[in-house]
Amino acid sequence: MSTPSPSRLFHEAMASLASGVGVVTARRGPGRACGLAATSITSYSAHPPSLLVSIDHSSRCHRALASSERFGVHILRADQESLARVFAGRGEDKFAGLDWRWDGDVPELTGTLAYLSCRRAAGFDLYDHTIMVGELDGGHVAGGEPLLYAQRRMDWLLVPG
Ligand SMILES: Cc1cc2nc3c(=O)[nH]c(=O)nc-3n(C[C@H](O)[C@H](O)[C@H](O)COP(=O)(O)O)c2cc1C
Repeated sequence: MSTPSPSRLFHEAMASLASGVGVVTARRGPGRACGLAATSITSYSAHPPSLLVSIDHSSRCHRALASSERFGVHILRADQESLARVFAGRGEDKFAGLDWRWDGDVPELTGTLAYLSCRRAAGFDLYDHTIMVGELDGGHVAGGEPLLYAQRRMDWLLVPG
């Protein structure tokens, strides 16, 4: 059996790493909201409460996220796959027809499992991504099941044993 290339190994192994699905948002220019679907959202530290997210330089939201003082992180519910697909797409106005509001300068989507507003504490550029660390300064959590992504699918259901 031939040894898989590091790239193939990476794609196969990462497809096996199950994660939650989120939407990261920021203000782009005066009064415009931008956002993208992200599975790279990770707990960073409890002291202070902070998380990290990795943003591709090619995202149209990258500049806004890398330069704005605050950004929003939404954790999606199991029944929000269609919302995830909107934010994973390249639509001109992803917020059109959605229920959302400005939380100060951060776009907040209504009805997600959790909304966390973050103050950008650090940004670190490597390869084609920027890792952003955000310190939590507000938000809320609702009850419910999370949307899960694994093996390139989002229709998993969490069934505790
Ligand atoms: C399941 C899934 C997870 C993703 N996770 C990330 C991520 O963590 N970081 C990122 O930059 N893009 C991620 N993407 C890709 C962006 O959501 C996608 O490129 C989006 O079109 C960017 O839109 P924009 O250019 O409007 O920002 C993910 C896409 C999917 C489907």
